[in-house]
Amino acid sequence: MKILVLNGSPKKKSDTFRMTEAFLKGLNKDNEHEVNVINVIDKDIAPCRGCFGCWKQGDGHCIFNDDQNGILDLYRTADLIIWSFPLYCYSMPSHLKAVLDRTIPLLKMDMVQQPDGTVRHIPLVDFSRIHTLVICGCGFPDWDGNFDSLRLMCKTCFRDPDMVCVPEAPLMNVPKAAIVADPLLERFEKAGEEYALSLTLSAETVRELETPMIPKEEYIRNVNGY
Ligand SMILES: Cc1cc2nc3c(=O)[nH]c(=O)nc-3n(C[C@H](O)[C@H](O)[C@H](O)COP(=O)(O)O)c2cc1C
Repeated sequence: MKILVLNGSPKKKSDTFRMTEAFLKGLNKDNEHEVNVINVIDKDIAPCRGCFGCWKQGDGHCIFNDDQNGILDLYRTADLIIWSFPLYCYSMPSHLKAVLDRTIPLLKMDMVQQPDGTVRHIPLVDFSRIHTLVICGCGFPDWDGNFDSLRLMCKTCFRDPDMVCVPEAPLMNVPKAAIVADPLLERFEKAGEEYALSLTLSAETVRELETPMIPKEEYIRNVNGY
């Protein structure tokens, strides 16, 4: 399987990427997959100019030749794309959003109505064969309200991807919190193994991964005492 990992954390020591790494360890236990990790922050990817030059050109590339065209080549040939990023203002970080916006060269201008009545552009590539997994860490202790807009955006853009939204993610890089972070990393590794077998995650596994590591009140007390 060709796996493309889009790491959207701008930090060298990403809380979210620790979980993604553990997941990849389980997923690629037997070293049989080709894993390509792109640290998006290190790439030269400008925001979309909205010129639709890509649609006029029609070859699946952007007319502006920065690093996005290389990502598009990996994107269209991947079997699994993992979007790994921190929650920023209830959404994804802007440098990663630029990558998402600039996947429109993989679509045509022509529109088609779906069986449910919604309208989409006709894709240039067969997206139905590409699996998508979103791993997002956030700083608040809740999912409620916090991840809602991101979930809706990902559901629409990636057509019901597997999603793991992890609250209290900064605990991943607090040495004193290893007692709760390490067991979660082990669960991520197990989840990777599960994903390798079934190419999806059970609701039970997602629930285990998303459960806050420590009670909300304790987390808030610790943050406020920092
Ligand atoms: C600009 C910015 C916006 C953020 N917005 C949110 C947010 O909307 N909700 C939340 O729970 N945490 C928010 N956070 C906290 C990060 O999601 C959190 O620190 C996360 O663990 C960082 O992950 P990383 O180390 O993988 O980059 C924000 C952080 C930054 C810097």
